[in-house]
Amino acid sequence: MTLELSNCVENQSSVRLALKTWPEVESYLRKCKGIILPIGSTEQHGPTGAIGTDAITAEVVALEVGKRTGVLVTPTQVFGMAEHHLGFPGTMSLKPSTLLSVIHDLVLSLARNGFERVFVINGHGGNIATTKAAFAQVYSSAGSLGLSNASRLRCKLVNWFMAGPVFKQAKELYGDREGSHATPSEISLTLHIHPSLQSKQRPLPESAPSGPINGPEDFRLRHPDGRMGSDPYLAKPEHGVLFLEKAASALSKDLIDFLNDT
Ligand code: NI
Repeated sequence: MTLELSNCVENQSSVRLALKTWPEVESYLRKCKGIILPIGSTEQHGPTGAIGTDAITAEVVALEVGKRTGVLVTPTQVFGMAEHHLGFPGTMSLKPSTLLSVIHDLVLSLARNGFERVFVINGHGGNIATTKAAFAQVYSSAGSLGLSNASRLRCKLVNWFMAGPVFKQAKELYGDREGSHATPSEISLTLHIHPSLQSKQRPLPESAPSGPINGPEDFRLRHPDGRMGSDPYLAKPEHGVLFLEKAASALSKDLIDFLNDT
Protein backbone atom coordinates (compact mmCIF):
# COMPACT_ATOMS: atom_id res chain seq x y z
CA MET A 1 0.00 0.00 0.00
CA THR A 2 1.57 3.23 -1.13
CA LEU A 3 1.25 6.53 0.64
CA GLU A 4 1.85 8.62 -2.42
CA LEU A 5 -0.06 11.85 -2.68
CA SER A 6 -1.66 10.89 -5.99
CA ASN A 7 -3.65 8.29 -4.08
CA CYS A 8 -5.29 10.79 -1.76
CA VAL A 9 -8.87 12.02 -2.17
CA GLU A 10 -10.00 12.76 -5.71
CA ASN A 11 -12.66 15.25 -4.72
CA GLN A 12 -10.71 18.15 -3.35
CA SER A 13 -13.75 20.38 -2.83
CA SER A 14 -14.40 18.91 0.60
CA VAL A 15 -11.44 17.80 2.63
CA ARG A 16 -13.09 18.32 6.00
CA LEU A 17 -13.15 15.09 8.00
CA ALA A 18 -16.17 16.50 9.85
CA LEU A 19 -18.22 16.39 6.64
CA LYS A 20 -17.32 12.80 5.76
CA THR A 21 -19.18 9.61 6.68
CA TRP A 22 -17.27 6.69 8.17
CA PRO A 23 -17.60 4.59 4.98
CA GLU A 24 -16.10 7.51 3.06
CA VAL A 25 -13.19 7.64 5.51
CA GLU A 26 -12.75 3.87 5.24
CA SER A 27 -12.62 4.15 1.49
CA TYR A 28 -10.15 7.09 1.68
CA LEU A 29 -7.91 4.98 3.90
CA ARG A 30 -7.66 2.31 1.23
CA LYS A 31 -5.87 4.90 -0.91
CA CYS A 32 -4.24 7.34 1.47
CA LYS A 33 -2.98 7.08 5.05
CA GLY A 34 -2.33 10.78 5.56
CA ILE A 35 -4.33 13.31 7.53
CA ILE A 36 -3.87 16.93 8.64
CA LEU A 37 -4.64 17.97 12.22
CA PRO A 38 -4.76 21.76 12.78
CA ILE A 39 -3.95 22.98 16.27
CA GLY A 40 -4.20 26.53 17.59
CA SER A 41 -4.87 28.35 20.82
CA THR A 42 -7.57 30.49 22.39
CA GLU A 43 -5.61 33.34 23.96
CA GLN A 44 -5.17 37.08 24.09
CA HIS A 45 -3.50 38.65 21.05
CA GLY A 46 -2.84 42.16 22.25
CA PRO A 47 -5.48 44.89 22.61
CA THR A 48 -6.54 44.76 18.94
CA GLY A 49 -6.09 41.10 17.93
CA ALA A 50 -8.74 38.37 18.11
CA ILE A 51 -8.60 35.78 20.89
CA GLY A 52 -8.99 33.05 18.26
CA THR A 53 -6.07 34.22 16.09
CA ASP A 54 -3.95 31.07 16.44
CA ALA A 55 -6.86 28.70 15.84
CA ILE A 56 -8.27 30.73 12.92
CA THR A 57 -4.90 30.90 11.18
CA ALA A 58 -3.96 27.23 11.72
CA GLU A 59 -7.35 26.14 10.39
CA VAL A 60 -7.32 28.27 7.26
CA VAL A 61 -3.77 27.19 6.38
CA ALA A 62 -4.66 23.54 7.03
CA LEU A 63 -7.76 23.71 4.83
CA GLU A 64 -5.79 25.36 2.02
CA VAL A 65 -3.07 22.67 2.26
CA GLY A 66 -5.83 20.02 2.28
CA LYS A 67 -7.47 21.57 -0.77
CA ARG A 68 -4.19 21.66 -2.67
CA THR A 69 -3.13 18.12 -1.80
CA GLY A 70 -6.45 16.30 -1.37
CA VAL A 71 -5.48 15.19 2.14
CA LEU A 72 -8.24 15.16 4.74
CA VAL A 73 -8.29 17.81 7.49
CA THR A 74 -9.60 17.01 10.99
CA PRO A 75 -11.57 19.53 13.07
CA THR A 76 -9.26 22.12 14.63
CA GLN A 77 -7.96 21.65 18.17
CA VAL A 78 -8.69 25.25 19.18
CA PHE A 79 -7.37 25.04 22.76
CA GLY A 80 -3.62 24.97 23.29
CA MET A 81 -0.98 25.49 25.94
CA ALA A 82 -1.42 29.18 26.78
CA GLU A 83 -0.67 29.23 30.51
CA HIS A 84 1.44 32.40 30.21
CA HIS A 85 -1.50 34.30 28.69
CA LEU A 86 -3.88 33.52 31.55
CA GLY A 87 -3.41 37.01 33.02
CA PHE A 88 -5.66 38.33 30.22
CA PRO A 89 -9.42 37.71 30.05
CA GLY A 90 -10.68 35.50 27.27
CA THR A 91 -7.67 33.21 27.37
CA MET A 92 -8.55 29.52 27.76
CA SER A 93 -5.55 27.29 28.30
CA LEU A 94 -4.79 23.59 28.63
CA LYS A 95 -1.98 22.64 30.99
CA PRO A 96 0.95 21.03 29.15
CA SER A 97 0.01 17.64 30.62
CA THR A 98 -3.61 18.05 29.46
CA LEU A 99 -2.62 19.09 25.95
CA LEU A 100 -0.19 16.18 25.80
CA SER A 101 -3.04 13.80 26.65
CA VAL A 102 -5.39 15.43 24.13
CA ILE A 103 -2.91 15.21 21.24
CA HIS A 104 -1.91 11.69 22.28
CA ASP A 105 -5.52 10.47 22.36
CA LEU A 106 -6.50 12.17 19.09
CA VAL A 107 -3.51 10.84 17.16
CA LEU A 108 -3.93 7.36 18.60
CA SER A 109 -7.62 7.41 17.60
CA LEU A 110 -6.57 8.09 14.03
CA ALA A 111 -3.79 5.49 14.11
CA ARG A 112 -5.93 2.62 15.38
CA ASN A 113 -8.17 2.93 12.32
CA GLY A 114 -5.33 3.00 9.86
CA PHE A 115 -3.90 6.52 9.55
CA GLU A 116 -0.10 6.38 9.43
CA ARG A 117 0.94 9.95 8.62
CA VAL A 118 -0.42 12.62 10.96
CA PHE A 119 0.60 16.11 9.86
CA VAL A 120 -0.06 18.66 12.61
CA ILE A 121 -0.30 22.27 11.36
CA ASN A 122 0.26 24.51 14.36
CA GLY A 123 -0.53 28.21 14.89
CA HIS A 124 0.93 28.74 18.37
CA GLY A 125 4.53 28.60 19.60
CA GLY A 126 3.43 27.50 23.07
CA ASN A 127 2.18 24.18 21.65
CA ILE A 128 5.48 23.06 20.14
CA ALA A 129 7.25 21.38 23.06
CA THR A 130 4.11 19.64 24.32
CA THR A 131 3.07 18.38 20.88
CA LYS A 132 6.50 16.86 20.30
CA ALA A 133 6.32 15.19 23.71
CA ALA A 134 2.87 13.84 22.80
CA PHE A 135 4.29 12.27 19.63
CA ALA A 136 6.90 10.42 21.68
CA GLN A 137 4.15 9.07 23.89
CA VAL A 138 2.01 8.14 20.86
CA TYR A 139 4.79 6.00 19.40
CA SER A 140 5.26 4.28 22.72
CA SER A 141 1.52 3.65 23.17
CA ALA A 142 1.04 2.40 19.61
CA GLY A 143 3.67 -0.24 20.28
CA SER A 144 2.33 -1.16 23.73
CA LEU A 145 -1.20 -1.50 22.36
CA GLY A 146 0.07 -3.73 19.58
CA LEU A 147 -1.39 -1.64 16.76
CA SER A 148 -0.63 -3.42 13.51
CA ASN A 149 0.69 -0.21 11.95
CA ALA A 150 2.78 0.87 14.97
CA SER A 151 6.08 0.62 13.11
CA ARG A 152 4.74 2.66 10.19
CA LEU A 153 3.17 5.46 12.22
CA ARG A 154 4.75 8.91 11.72
CA CYS A 155 3.73 12.25 13.22
CA LYS A 156 5.06 15.62 12.09
CA LEU A 157 4.59 19.10 13.52
CA VAL A 158 4.85 22.15 11.28
CA ASN A 159 4.36 25.77 12.35
CA TRP A 160 2.88 27.83 9.52
CA PHE A 161 4.33 31.08 10.90
CA MET A 162 7.85 29.63 10.89
CA ALA A 163 7.79 28.36 7.29
CA GLY A 164 10.79 29.91 5.49
CA PRO A 165 8.87 31.96 2.88
CA VAL A 166 6.41 33.22 5.53
CA PHE A 167 9.24 34.31 7.82
CA LYS A 168 11.00 36.06 4.94
CA GLN A 169 7.82 37.84 3.83
CA ALA A 170 7.13 39.05 7.39
CA LYS A 171 10.68 40.37 7.67
CA GLU A 172 10.33 42.23 4.36
CA LEU A 173 7.01 43.80 5.29
CA TYR A 174 7.53 44.56 8.97
CA GLY A 175 11.22 44.20 9.87
CA ASP A 176 11.73 44.11 13.62
CA ARG A 177 8.15 45.21 14.22
CA GLU A 178 6.95 41.68 13.41
CA GLY A 179 7.83 40.79 17.03
CA SER A 180 6.87 37.41 18.46
CA HIS A 181 3.30 37.65 19.74
CA ALA A 182 0.24 39.37 18.25
CA THR A 183 2.40 39.74 15.17
CA PRO A 184 1.26 41.73 12.12
CA SER A 185 1.64 38.59 9.98
CA GLU A 186 -0.83 36.51 11.96
CA ILE A 187 -3.19 39.48 12.40
CA SER A 188 -3.06 40.08 8.61
CA LEU A 189 -4.25 36.54 8.03
CA THR A 190 -7.18 37.00 10.43
CA LEU A 191 -8.12 40.28 8.69
CA HIS A 192 -8.18 38.43 5.37
CA ILE A 193 -10.41 35.66 6.75
CA HIS A 194 -12.64 37.87 8.93
CA PRO A 195 -12.79 41.40 7.45
CA SER A 196 -14.92 42.63 10.38
CA LEU A 197 -11.80 42.44 12.57
CA GLN A 198 -10.48 45.49 10.73
CA SER A 199 -12.70 47.64 12.94
CA LYS A 200 -10.53 46.76 15.96
CA GLN A 201 -7.30 48.00 14.34
CA ARG A 202 -5.81 51.18 15.80
CA PRO A 203 -2.31 52.59 16.32
CA LEU A 204 -0.63 51.32 19.49
CA PRO A 205 2.29 52.74 21.47
CA GLU A 206 5.55 51.73 19.81
CA SER A 207 7.14 50.05 22.77
CA ALA A 208 5.99 46.47 23.10
CA PRO A 209 8.84 44.76 24.90
CA SER A 210 10.18 41.36 23.99
CA GLY A 211 11.51 39.19 26.76
CA PRO A 212 11.38 35.85 28.48
CA ILE A 213 8.16 33.93 29.01
CA ASN A 214 7.54 32.96 32.61
CA GLY A 215 4.23 32.72 34.47
CA PRO A 216 1.02 34.65 33.67
CA GLU A 217 1.53 37.31 36.36
CA ASP A 218 5.06 38.03 35.19
CA PHE A 219 3.92 38.05 31.56
CA ARG A 220 1.31 40.72 32.21
CA LEU A 221 3.85 42.86 34.09
CA ARG A 222 6.39 42.62 31.27
CA HIS A 223 3.87 42.89 28.45
CA PRO A 224 1.06 45.06 29.83
CA ASP A 225 -1.03 45.15 26.65
CA GLY A 226 -0.25 41.55 25.67
CA ARG A 227 1.98 42.16 22.65
CA MET A 228 5.57 40.95 22.47
CA GLY A 229 7.76 43.20 20.34
CA SER A 230 5.10 43.55 17.65
CA ASP A 231 3.15 46.28 15.88
CA PRO A 232 -0.11 44.66 14.75
CA TYR A 233 -1.31 47.99 13.32
CA LEU A 234 0.93 47.21 10.31
CA ALA A 235 -1.34 44.27 9.46
CA LYS A 236 -3.38 44.41 6.25
CA PRO A 237 -5.84 41.92 4.77
CA GLU A 238 -3.93 41.91 1.47
CA HIS A 239 -0.82 40.82 3.39
CA GLY A 240 -2.94 37.97 4.73
CA VAL A 241 -3.51 36.75 1.16
CA LEU A 242 0.27 36.64 0.67
CA PHE A 243 0.91 34.82 3.94
CA LEU A 244 -1.77 32.23 3.18
CA GLU A 245 -0.32 31.57 -0.25
CA LYS A 246 3.25 31.25 1.05
CA ALA A 247 2.29 29.09 4.03
CA ALA A 248 0.07 26.77 1.99
CA SER A 249 2.65 26.40 -0.74
CA ALA A 250 5.53 25.63 1.65
CA LEU A 251 3.53 23.28 3.87
CA SER A 252 2.00 21.43 0.89
CA LYS A 253 5.56 20.59 -0.19
CA ASP A 254 6.40 19.48 3.36
CA LEU A 255 3.30 17.31 3.44
CA ILE A 256 4.11 15.63 0.12
CA ASP A 257 7.61 14.81 1.38
CA PHE A 258 6.14 13.52 4.61
CA LEU A 259 3.64 11.26 2.83
CA ASN A 260 6.36 9.82 0.65
CA ASP A 261 8.78 9.36 3.54
CA THR A 262 9.35 5.78 4.51
NI1 NI B 1 -0.61 33.91 17.87
